[in-house]
Formats: sequence, C-alpha cells, structure tokens
Amino acid sequence: MTINENFLKLKAGYLFPEIARRVNNWTEANPDKTGDLIRCGIGDVTEPLPQAVRDAMKTAVDEQGVAETFHGYGPEQGYGFLRDAIIENQFAGLNISADEVFVSDGSKCDTGNILDIFGPGNKIAITDPVYPVYVDTNVMAGNTGEADENGAYDGLVYLPCTADNQFTPAIPEEKVDLIYLCYPNNPTGTTATKEQLQAWVDYAKENGSIILFDAAYEAFIQDPAIPHSIFEIEGAHDCAIEFRSFSKNGGFTGVRCGYTVIPKSLTVTSSTGEEVSLHALWNRRQSTKFNGASYPVQRGAAAVFSPEGKAQVSALIEHYMGNAALLLKTCQEIGLKTFGGENAPYVWVQCPEGVDSWGMFDKMLEEAQVVITPGSGFGAAGEGYFRISSFNTRENVEEVCRRLTALA
Ligand code: MLT
Repeated sequence: MTINENFLKLKAGYLFPEIARRVNNWTEANPDKTGDLIRCGIGDVTEPLPQAVRDAMKTAVDEQGVAETFHGYGPEQGYGFLRDAIIENQFAGLNISADEVFVSDGSKCDTGNILDIFGPGNKIAITDPVYPVYVDTNVMAGNTGEADENGAYDGLVYLPCTADNQFTPAIPEEKVDLIYLCYPNNPTGTTATKEQLQAWVDYAKENGSIILFDAAYEAFIQDPAIPHSIFEIEGAHDCAIEFRSFSKNGGFTGVRCGYTVIPKSLTVTSSTGEEVSLHALWNRRQSTKFNGASYPVQRGAAAVFSPEGKAQVSALIEHYMGNAALLLKTCQEIGLKTFGGENAPYVWVQCPEGVDSWGMFDKMLEEAQVVITPGSGFGAAGEGYFRISSFNTRENVEEVCRRLTALA
C-alpha cells in the first residue's frame, strides 16, 4: 500500500479551515464573547439567493417531480440553455462559442482539477500572495518539492506582489509553462489593466505558456476600463483558460456552480510532436470524472441572466461594494494603508507598525471579536498585511468599522 506522499508536503491545514479551527478554539475559551463575533475572514456571501434564482430552482425541482419533465444525467459539459446564456451575457463579441464553456460545480474545483490535463515537470508561476488552492493543488499533484521555513515550495516560481510594485507581478525572466493569474485579485483586491494583461498574453505566446485566468470576481469591477475576461486580450484564445463562478455575484457559495472556458484553438504539442487540443482533454476529463452540475442548480444559474436576475445581482454587488467602501474609509481614517476594495470585494490592509499578519488576526479576534484573514496565509509576500472581506450584512460591516476605530 502506498499513498500520495505529496500530501505530506502540505503546510498545516488549508487556510480557511485553519482559521475556523483557531476561531473555534477561541470561542470555546471565550463563551461569553462568542455572540459578538463578526466573520470577515473567508469570502463567503451572506445575502440571500436572488429571488429569480430561487424561483427558477423551485420550478426545476417541480419539473423533476413529473415524468414528462424529469431530467436524469445531464450533459457533462452543462446544459445548452446555460452555456448559451453565458455566451450571450458574458462573452458577447469575444469570439467564444457555447461549446467552449464547461459548466461545473464551482471554480475552486475547476482550478484544482485542471491539473489533470497537464503532465509532470511543468514550471509553474504563481503570484505571491495567492489564492491557496493554486499552490496546494500543485503540491498534491507532485509539481513541487518541499516547502522552506517561509512556506515557499521548491520548484514553484513565485511572483511577489507588494506595495512596492503596486501588487503587479513582474513578468518572469525565465520561461514558465503555467501561469496562474486572478483578476480582480484575491486576496489583494487589485486589478490588471488591458496593457498589463496584454503583456502576459504576449509572454505566454512567445514562450508557449498557458495562462490559467481566474475571473471569479469580475462582476465586482466598477471601472469600465478594466477587462472582465482574458479573452478581451488579443491572442488570449491561443494561450489562456478562464475560470468563472456564480458564487460571489449570484450568491452561489452554498449552491455551487461555476464554469471554465477553453477555446478550441488552444493546443499544446505532445512529446510525440502531436498538436493536442486542451479543450478535447478537458472534455475527456469531465466526461470521465464528472456528471455535470445538477439540473435545478443550472436553471438557477441561468436565471442570473434573466432581466430580474440581473437587477437582483446588481443590487447584491452594490451592497457588497458599499461594504467595501465603508471598510476602506474606516481603515484609511485610522491611518492604515489600504489596497483593493474598489473593484473587488476584498480590502487588503497593511498591518500597523510592529504587528505581523497572524498577530493582527489574534488582535482583531481577541480585542475586537472580528475575524480577518492574515495576509501571510496567502503566501510569504502577504506577511505584514491582512484581508477584510466585505461579504457581510451592512449592520455587521458598520459594527466592524466602529470596532476598528475603537481599536486604533
Ligand atoms: C476566499 O475567501 O478567498 C474565498 O472565498 C475562498 C473560496 O472562494 O474558495
């Protein structure tokens, strides 16, 4: 018997369960203060599912109760009604077709599972700080060596994002095979301009690299100049895969639906010199390992694009971005340096002098009963920062602002 020993290289627990574990320890030790706790750690939505989504899901459940409208296994790639709605509403004019969209149960799964179609020995670039799924899934897949004392894995190419470079990763000087980019960025809340993304696409085309572009937060973009999709960039159809989610815009964190876009023009040369389509490989992977997101969930996702759904989603985005604006204003008023929060639901804050990321986590928990995410949990370059999620009720965010001010 053997196990996948790559798992043994993983540092501690996955970040968010690790935070939950520490919070649970604290609540057990402080039962009298538990009622005051406000969670601004994990980016989990708090507002109810849009009415249009609930109505569509209820209708779909009722259809499942009638033989004539019952749906068994659906297409592994997603129902046509949802793929068409995605193209019409999210990729119009971007030269992407419905059969290049693969519907799934969320983009966390897709960003991890995508490694199934890539082989060993690839050089992988990730920004630092970064959404931990990209790193941990590469560790599990055996694409890294061991971690050093700062948690940096041997074999990964880290692209530091700090205040000094405006959280814009430098294009690597060496040749890398896979590049993970997330815009609007989790955790820093910063964005990339069209020119910056063009530079990445040009690099990828020159070096035969693939960009894995996570656009889970695109709906939060307020500035019309900021691209929503990598496929707005010339040449991206030959070098990029995009991940999208219904979690944060439609409130689907507990419902689960996302999708991955792989242009058919995206090919990689195999070891025998054959041009292999990544779309075909992913299609094969999904058909084998996945049976599609459920019918009621896909009906709910399609309702996000109905006129009522669009209005309800806009109201949700406005709500969370209103929260972000309050958090930004308060942090700035108490003299903290902030980033992000203007086109993303995350506010990235520099810790006060002399306090490190986990120190700030403890301080906020113990002295303000507010859960934040320590920047160092997203990578070594996140040390000295913390992330506040704006996914919360307005009442809670206003209370967090009061407590931050009192703490200062
Ligand atoms: C986060 O807090 O970074 C995300 O919500 C986690 C996730 O989407 O998986």
